Amino acid sequence: MSETAVEALSEAEASAELERLAREIAAHDARYYREDAPTVSDAEYDALKRRNAAIEARFPALVRPDSPSLRVGAPPSTQFAEVVHGTPMLSLDNAFEDGDVVAFVQRIRRFLNLSEAEEIAFTVEPKIDGLSANLRYEKGALVQGATRGDGRAGEDVTANLRTIADIPRRLKGEGWPEVIEVRGEVYIEHDAFQAMNAAAAEAGQRTYANPRNAAAGSLRQIDPSVTAGRPLRFFAYAWGLSSAPFAQSQWEALERLRQWGFVVNPLSVRETGVDALLADYRRFGAIRAKLGYDIDGVVYKVDRLDWQERLGSVGRVPRWAIAHKFPAERAHTVVRDIEIQVGRTGALTPVAKLEPITVGGVVVQNATLHNADEIARKDIRPGDTVVVQRAGDVIPQVVEVVDPDRPGRAPPFAFPTVCPCPLRTPIARETTASGAETVVRRCTGELACPFQKIEHLKHFVSRKAFDIEGLGEKQLVAFFEDGLVREPADVFRLPRDEAKLQRLRGREGHGETSIRNLIAAIEARRTIALDRFIFALGIRHVGETTAMTLARGYGSADAYLAAMDQVAAGDAAAIAELDALDQIGAAVVAASAAYFREPHNRRIVQELRAELTVLDAEAPRADTAVAGKTVVFTGALERLTRDEAKAQAERLGAKVASSVSRKTDLVVAGPGAGSKLKTAAELGVRVLSEEEWIALVAG
Ligand code: IVH
Repeated sequence: MSETAVEALSEAEASAELERLAREIAAHDARYYREDAPTVSDAEYDALKRRNAAIEARFPALVRPDSPSLRVGAPPSTQFAEVVHGTPMLSLDNAFEDGDVVAFVQRIRRFLNLSEAEEIAFTVEPKIDGLSANLRYEKGALVQGATRGDGRAGEDVTANLRTIADIPRRLKGEGWPEVIEVRGEVYIEHDAFQAMNAAAAEAGQRTYANPRNAAAGSLRQIDPSVTAGRPLRFFAYAWGLSSAPFAQSQWEALERLRQWGFVVNPLSVRETGVDALLADYRRFGAIRAKLGYDIDGVVYKVDRLDWQERLGSVGRVPRWAIAHKFPAERAHTVVRDIEIQVGRTGALTPVAKLEPITVGGVVVQNATLHNADEIARKDIRPGDTVVVQRAGDVIPQVVEVVDPDRPGRAPPFAFPTVCPCPLRTPIARETTASGAETVVRRCTGELACPFQKIEHLKHFVSRKAFDIEGLGEKQLVAFFEDGLVREPADVFRLPRDEAKLQRLRGREGHGETSIRNLIAAIEARRTIALDRFIFALGIRHVGETTAMTLARGYGSADAYLAAMDQVAAGDAAAIAELDALDQIGAAVVAASAAYFREPHNRRIVQELRAELTVLDAEAPRADTAVAGKTVVFTGALERLTRDEAKAQAERLGAKVASSVSRKTDLVVAGPGAGSKLKTAAELGVRVLSEEEWIALVAG
């Protein structure tokens, strides 16, 4: 996807982009921190954060209250009680090259105003790839333990942390402050991870992609006895709140922690001079694979605590420490085969099936090849030996072919011309509205293709669609294969289909209670909001937001479906009406027409409709002070979040725009409002404070 260069963005574009980035990064954070199941590589994630930072640097006035740059990690989830840390849990700045380390030491020298002759001692510690925890001890007893969360507050996982043998419940020795927060990393060793995953697979339970995710998942179990059965370990390396000083240097502090009963990483050393730091970095890198647990770099910390204190921190990272990261891990392996996977919309994704190989402690056997062009560009063929890369990753990549000149190599990979599904329908290369070819290839079988059917059903029950508890992806695929659910309406027919329920009773893991719960969950969704209903249909280009626009625009399921029938029939007035809705363009019009032209889809929708009560959308209000007005929010809002304010405005019949123009009726400006406020003044647009806005909409 091509992105506009940051320098070329208009303010309106920048604002929209920051909003998108905030949403996207928050979603990745949630998947990484809460669900322990990231979907992008660290590199892709970092690129998003960098773009966000670059745009914010250029438009400081646009920094959002929910900006990802103001957060460390994810806010705590609601499953566990929130614990506010005694002092914030900081993150670390990263160094990737030797030069970054030189610059780090120079910065410290300058900041402390030290001459070149003055020596600065550092501790060099392995950077453990697990998740950090904060342990609060009072009078030597462990009273509370929490995850890092967003750095300010984490989740109360005391009972789970108590099950870890490396964590003392009572501090040993003496000299510990009356109140102290000890910090360190919870992790799992490679052997234990493999054994745990193998046992889980055997028992039909979930497995984890890597030891870090396994550690995070294990620590966040509701039932501490489950955590107790997991092989969690803990290295102590830092502290937070302390009621009294207990050391003068990092090195001495590590020694204290050891005396109090913690495990401190035995590889940690104390050094002076950049050369020594870099030599340690290389030494650690060389023994990394043999350690038996994952480390993703080394951490250098200024040893003297009085200097640490003077150096302080910038934002969320200390000036006195830096993480020197190892480059992405690579390994060689053989491509056994190239398989084609089919998505919901029929898009075909080639996947390399690899000879299983351990890369960075994780067994890799699949790597996405993205699309046919990518395969051709890298010229990957079955039988090739390739470099596989995984950078703290869940999605391994094939970097290049190692032996392209070997004799007897397979011919270039020919992308199939028919779908791998049993129907063998032809594959078409997708074109854009202007007729240009894209890299996407699609199965043209649409809903007749069983592969697409499954993906459609997955979408249908997904969280933002019908969201039926107990009917997740796995369950659904099993139900599909057993013929219990083949189409959306089948889900709602299930509760009264005695024959199917009887079969369900025969399945493993389906006791009376679980069947009763499933039926209750299905019944609970028989009444559904119009926007969810529309979203669930899985029409291309109709995401959550578009579904909401359509719901608001048509008001009821009957009106929407009648209009779509007309759109499908090519009725010019109906098409014009759809096209006129805000944010709806040619792609949605074409996709809607195509969807509702298909007899199969029409039958599916009708049958589904017969099972459901679809609630009317709230009609836009015409009787409020802001009805029909175009509103722009700018600057920081203090009582409302931006999303809340927007939703409220829309509920009251206003339109929310992102930039100020002659069409704008109102600008609501908070602190830090910049050029939009100026434009408003120039155009004579009425400007309100947040308080005035609240008063206006309340009245
Ligand atoms: S010190 C103020 N030391 O790395 C500094 N962190 O990217 C606080 N980590 O959140 C962290 N090993 O989860 C420190 N020896 C070590 C570490 C370490 C791993 C993790 C920790 C931290 C993250 C920062």
